[in-house]
Amino acid sequence: MAKIAPSILNADFLRLQKDINEAVIAGCDWIHLDVMDGHFVPKITFGPMIVEAVDKMTPVPLDVHLMVEHPDTMLSDFVQAGAENITVHYETCPHLWRTIDTIHALGARAGVTVNPATPVNLLDPILERVDLVLVMTVETGYGGQEFIPQSLTKIAWLDQQRRSRGLNFYIEVDGGIDLETAPLVVKAGADVLVVGTFIFMSDNITATVKSLRKVIGGI
Ligand code: DX5
Ligand code: ZN
Repeated sequence: MAKIAPSILNADFLRLQKDINEAVIAGCDWIHLDVMDGHFVPKITFGPMIVEAVDKMTPVPLDVHLMVEHPDTMLSDFVQAGAENITVHYETCPHLWRTIDTIHALGARAGVTVNPATPVNLLDPILERVDLVLVMTVETGYGGQEFIPQSLTKIAWLDQQRRSRGLNFYIEVDGGIDLETAPLVVKAGADVLVVGTFIFMSDNITATVKSLRKVIGGI
């Protein structure tokens, strides 16, 4: 069954704990945390202090997405803060092999992601070494954007590699996921869905999570 990982990027931080708990009780599996540095992407969000606070709010695994330049300098801070998964951008890691090894040595799951304009087959040489591949399904840096349909080809390619090479990395998607796009990505092979705006800006978090579960349930 596909996992749902709500992204707190567009959540109301004044009621963060309450809303995270509601999402988890409704059936969400991981919490996705979008770290942005104002360089790799225009916005600045938060760092390890907030990750540590969220770790105290919920028992579910924390899925940290680093949209930062030079992520190697921060890996241990985020693992210490409670990150279970750390995902770095291919575009920010000239020595990706070493970065993945470092994340593993720190005891976390290692993920890698590509921007929508970056070909996913660039990841071919490291697929054996990662625990998770994140396909950006909107342009990196903002919540609330429209799903990019070309991403489906990337997901299907990853799924095909996973099967033919006997690998078991997660295929995660991030951006523009709602009731219409969720079944499309799951059919293409995704097994973790990051969902920001659709969950945290809805009027009823429980009902929204349940409706997502329903549309992907039978796939
Ligand atoms: C964008 C972030 C996403 C974002 C997704 O760069 O990585 O995690 O929160 O938000 P929605 O679901 O609103 O597209
Ligand atoms: Zn993200």
